[in-house]
Amino acid sequence: MTGASIGRKLIALTLVLALLPILCVLGFVAAKQIRDLRTEMLASSTMMGSIVAEYGAAALAFDEPHSAQEALNVLGRHEEFRDAALYDMRGRLFASFQQLGGGKSEVLPILLDPYAAKPRTDLEGDRIHVVQAVDHDGVRFGTLVLHTSTARLSASVNGYLYSLGLLIVVILLASALLAWALEKMISRRLRKLAEVAQRIAQKEDYSVRATDTGADEISLLAEAFNSMLAEIGRRQEQALQAVRVRDEFLSVASHELKTPLTSLKLQVQSLLEQPPSFSDHGEGQRMASSLALTDRQVRRLERLIGNLLDVSRIAVGRFHLQIEDVDLALMVRDVVAQFSAEIARSGTAVAVVLPEHAVGRWDPLRLEQVVVNLLSNALKYGDAKPIEIRVAVDDERARLIVHDRGVGVDASNHARIFERFERAVSVNYGGLGLGLYITRQIVQAHGGTIGVDSALGQGATFTVEIPRRRQEAI
Ligand SMILES: Nc1ncnc2c1ncn2[C@@H]1O[C@H](COP(=O)(O)OP(=O)(O)OP(=O)(O)O)[C@@H](O)[C@H]1O
Ligand SMILES: [Mg+2]
Repeated sequence: MTGASIGRKLIALTLVLALLPILCVLGFVAAKQIRDLRTEMLASSTMMGSIVAEYGAAALAFDEPHSAQEALNVLGRHEEFRDAALYDMRGRLFASFQQLGGGKSEVLPILLDPYAAKPRTDLEGDRIHVVQAVDHDGVRFGTLVLHTSTARLSASVNGYLYSLGLLIVVILLASALLAWALEKMISRRLRKLAEVAQRIAQKEDYSVRATDTGADEISLLAEAFNSMLAEIGRRQEQALQAVRVRDEFLSVASHELKTPLTSLKLQVQSLLEQPPSFSDHGEGQRMASSLALTDRQVRRLERLIGNLLDVSRIAVGRFHLQIEDVDLALMVRDVVAQFSAEIARSGTAVAVVLPEHAVGRWDPLRLEQVVVNLLSNALKYGDAKPIEIRVAVDDERARLIVHDRGVGVDASNHARIFERFERAVSVNYGGLGLGLYITRQIVQAHGGTIGVDSALGQGATFTVEIPRRRQEAI
């Protein structure tokens, strides 16, 4: 709905409302007037024919062409009579009349079969054709043929058409004026409001305000619109403030958590490297397995805290790449080795299809995060069914595909799962909903893309494509 279309609708509506009834009434009146005029002309032609025939009867009876001519000449006083002819009973022309300047005469020297000439009055094209029997006391003496011009009828039809046309032009002008006034009063102001709304939708700038100086419903609408904008702006500011507080908290909390975690990790690693000796073999075994469990949990905690830290870095734009030569094939092998304990524990078969080398200019730590996130998801949501990891390279790009046969993701969630804190599984599966978000940020920072092909219960295939030689930071 645009202002222009409202304007056009107003013009159309005004035109229809003004023109339709006027045209109907005018058309009806004109048709009636023209019909009356036609009837009147036919009647007056017939009457004139009767009068002339009356005189003609006497002239024919006494064979006085001169008197007949005089009777016919009376027609000359009315210019609508074009010509007339009086015939005797043998069909011979007895007397005739031709209007001065009346054009070509239609008077025939002989009327064929005068007995057959039936009295009639007809409208034929641009003339009225009158045939009258010339008789007296039941004795027929001849026939009168009279032609009357219909110019008066045409002139009045033309007159009506002309005034109708004029009226239409006047109404068109008046309705255009009315539509312009309506457009100025309503449509233009609504369009201004719509423009403000559009600007807000495009730029998300809630500081703009609608200006309307009227004192009617539209200005009330503008006022309501402005107070709504003020409210939205206030709430947006509150929401942004809440997000800022959350990001700040995340950043501080993850930093704070990282410090004790690092020392815990070092402790666990040194214990793993130099395990304490126990006289009892069974106790030694128990200690070793509980150390391995602690190590796994510490790594998991480290990943979660690392993710939280990354999210806060991304939020404040402090997420930079350290580009160097990296072999993706080697990296995938390393990551799978890192996960060997988890893989073994879950009983999942992980097949790896790798080229000998897949070297590119990437950030090694960040790229490793991509592989780790995708593999840990495949293990977590893979239902312990076989997983495949493939790497392929061409001159331009490297492609990493992680395919599992687990719970899968419904198509309606494909876009959502790459957003912050978004998850598409029950809370039984642990996680913060950050892995894919960070993964996508890293892939995009390398100028690449990530996509998912999956359906619920049908497993999932995540495909990452990154250019081999692009260096960009976010
Ligand atoms: N391989 C997969 N199969 C099925 N669903 C998946 C798979 N990978 C991701 N998902 C879905 O996408 C959501 C988001 O994944 P993401 O890795 O961002 O978060 P998470 O695994 O829930 O938590 P974390 O932050 O620990 O990674 C998951 O919660 C899950 O619903
Ligand atoms: Mg994950």
